[in-house]
Amino acid sequence: MKKIPVILDGDPGHDDAIAWVLANSRPELDILAVTTVGGNQTLAKTTYNAGRILSLIGLNVPLAGGRSKPLLADLIVAPGVHGVTGLDGPELPEPARDVVEEEAVELMARLLEKSDVPIVLVPTGPLTNIASLLLLRPDLKEKIDHIYMMGGGITKGNWTAAAEFNILVDPEAADIVFRSGVPVTMAGLDVTEQALVRPEDIERINSVGNDVARIVAGWLEFFYQFHQPLGYEGAPVHDAVAIVAMVRPELLKMREMYVEVELQGDYTRGATVGDYYGLLGQKPNATCIMDIDREAFIELLIESVASYGEGAAK
Ligand code: RIB
Ligand code: CA
Repeated sequence: MKKIPVILDGDPGHDDAIAWVLANSRPELDILAVTTVGGNQTLAKTTYNAGRILSLIGLNVPLAGGRSKPLLADLIVAPGVHGVTGLDGPELPEPARDVVEEEAVELMARLLEKSDVPIVLVPTGPLTNIASLLLLRPDLKEKIDHIYMMGGGITKGNWTAAAEFNILVDPEAADIVFRSGVPVTMAGLDVTEQALVRPEDIERINSVGNDVARIVAGWLEFFYQFHQPLGYEGAPVHDAVAIVAMVRPELLKMREMYVEVELQGDYTRGATVGDYYGLLGQKPNATCIMDIDREAFIELLIESVASYGEGAAK
């Protein structure tokens, strides 16, 4: 099988971590590097967390820290959701390797430049690194095969009534990405809030019984603690849907749409405004994921953690 070369970019974050556990277990993907961005927590914390996650799952690829703050706005962090560390909950191993000298955007640019084939970017945090890459190296746009992102929401927000966290943290970056002409698949809240892992599912994941399974169950329990009082029936594993879109698209329902990012609105800054019915006559610039087969998604997560066998590494 021809593997898909990918770079994972995120702000771990419990759901970023689970997305990376899933990605690392999939034979279709060739993970070339991991990069981090400020978002759920500060860049220092998300980068430290990334090092711990890679150590846990035995993913031995370059890890580079990226942009610590949005292009224009001040950084918003989410300690109420992910904790002071950004990945509160289970004990984790220390990072097995140092981060590389290169900054994330430099690393992405070097990998794109030297690759014989275009590379897929998978941002699951604010889009600051991706937008910075597009601004600094427009010549490399053709080497970006596709952007599978978690962010936005056509029908809802989760940080304000109108805006989802990743987009709201850096709306200018998101605007650059959606206007770039690079193919974008958007896993927004419309679908990610259906990607719920319920208490009984967490129990099944935990009972797989290896280190990775137990830690993923611990992350899910922590993540559910924030969501349960808000009426969620489970932990919404937002970021993992971006991985599902690459490896099991048949579990999803998608809709081509022209999406604009609101930059000015007093109440709506950071909203992803999707022309659902094509009223504007604009060529769609995003494939928006709208539904997921939740039960199949749970089986995918269980299969993934089971692939790590006894002990941490696969
Ligand atoms: O709104 C959900 C998104 O914000 C997820 O990517 C989560 O990790 C946070 O970054
Ligand atoms: Ca994230």
